[in-house]
Amino acid sequence: MDHADWDALKRAAIEVRANAYAPYSGFTVGAAVQTRSGAVFTGCNVENASYGATICAERGALAAAIAAGERELVALVIASGAKSPTPPCGICRQCLAELAPSLPIRSYTRDAHLEYDLSSLLPEAFGRDQLD
Ligand code: THU
Repeated sequence: MDHADWDALKRAAIEVRANAYAPYSGFTVGAAVQTRSGAVFTGCNVENASYGATICAERGALAAAIAAGERELVALVIASGAKSPTPPCGICRQCLAELAPSLPIRSYTRDAHLEYDLSSLLPEAFGRDQLD
């Protein structure tokens, strides 16, 4: 499937956000990614006492899709409780661009959402082509 099921992605991202482990920042995030098969994979942020070891929700969802053998990403939803919708961080942009440089992304808070295209969030991305 090519089109995203935004409602299902939103529900999944909001649901998994409840599992976030964020004792240091208190900023909980959920993410859900849909793959070509239609399957939805989720992730939440997982913080660590060694702060830099923290894993963002988006990379958790990405890892879950890859672990299931699914690499064709169709769309991603982020859910947070921030005042304004949070865009993915720089590290997550780079990780997502590895498999889907133009991934459509929506980010939701309770009252608002924003839409992005990964290629506009990370133009001129470094990718595998540069390694050849
Ligand atoms: N975080 C995410 O999980 N995704 C984002 O898009 C932004 C930031 C997490 C990392 C950290 O646990 C907390 O939010 C505050 O930065």
